[in-house]
Amino acid sequence: MSDGKIIGVISIKGGVGKTTTVSNLGAVFYKEFGKKTLIIDTNFTAPNLALHLGLVDPETTIHDVLRNKADITDAIYEHEFGFHIIPASLLNVKVNPFKLKEKIQKLRNIYDIILLDSSPNLTGDILATMVASDELLVVTSPDYPTLSCSMNAIKVAKSKKAPITGLILNRTRGKHYELSLNDIEDATGVPVLAVLPDDHKVSEALANTIPAALHAPAREVSFEYRKLAAALLGQQFEDKRILPKFKKMLNKGCGKHDINREVIRSERFEQLK
Ligand SMILES: Nc1ncnc2c1ncn2[C@@H]1O[C@H](COP(=O)(O)OP(=O)(O)O)[C@@H](O)[C@H]1O
Ligand SMILES: [Mg+2]
Repeated sequence: MSDGKIIGVISIKGGVGKTTTVSNLGAVFYKEFGKKTLIIDTNFTAPNLALHLGLVDPETTIHDVLRNKADITDAIYEHEFGFHIIPASLLNVKVNPFKLKEKIQKLRNIYDIILLDSSPNLTGDILATMVASDELLVVTSPDYPTLSCSMNAIKVAKSKKAPITGLILNRTRGKHYELSLNDIEDATGVPVLAVLPDDHKVSEALANTIPAALHAPAREVSFEYRKLAAALLGQQFEDKRILPKFKKMLNKGCGKHDINREVIRSERFEQLK
């Protein structure tokens, strides 16, 4: 029997990379780490997880489940890449989002990892994801408006006693005007666990309805998703690329996010013993 962990991916801002993160982590947990993985669209008002993955017009959705019109197991679809997905309806059907927590409990027995792709709207939708999750990842980007939204998301999550594991810093370009990782950690008090470059391959992957980690596995963004997934599982990930190895030898390759990941990984590794 599995004892699945529910991980919510949140931000109080659209377009920062929640859905991209859920589809990529879903693919990586399954393909790279052999975990039974389910991803659920919990953006009940403007869903698009299924569209990211080429699943168009599914018959049964999370909306049917929340309205007691279908059993949750009937809303599960197997994606061609092996992980499973519960899509949401595009029709903006009214639901009670707070039924989510109760409805997904029995799936812990089937899956190792369940990822929730949250809505950015500070309504019942995001609160329902927060309370249904065992841990939260907050997606942010290196600019003040997004940082302000992330600080708000963290405040709300804390008020709901939803544990925040870390931040995913997305769409970095290495420009001098961007907020630094330290600025973001100082403002939020939450560790950054992954730094994802802004990469046109992510948009290309979306156009091909394939997670970038599978479409362009050699890109930095794909390595970051693999390293994050490994840390969350308490597993080692060996980066076999020559440049990172060389940098590590010169003691230059370790960013703060690498250290943060190692802290999480070793804590979880100890818990697994
Ligand atoms: N690291 C990245 N590099 C380039 N484009 C990205 C990156 N992350 C996300 N995007 C693009 O940004 C857009 C919004 O991403 P999405 O995951 O849908 O955001 P959210 O779910 O937070 O609204 C998509 O077009 C996606 O392809
Ligand atoms: Mg989204």
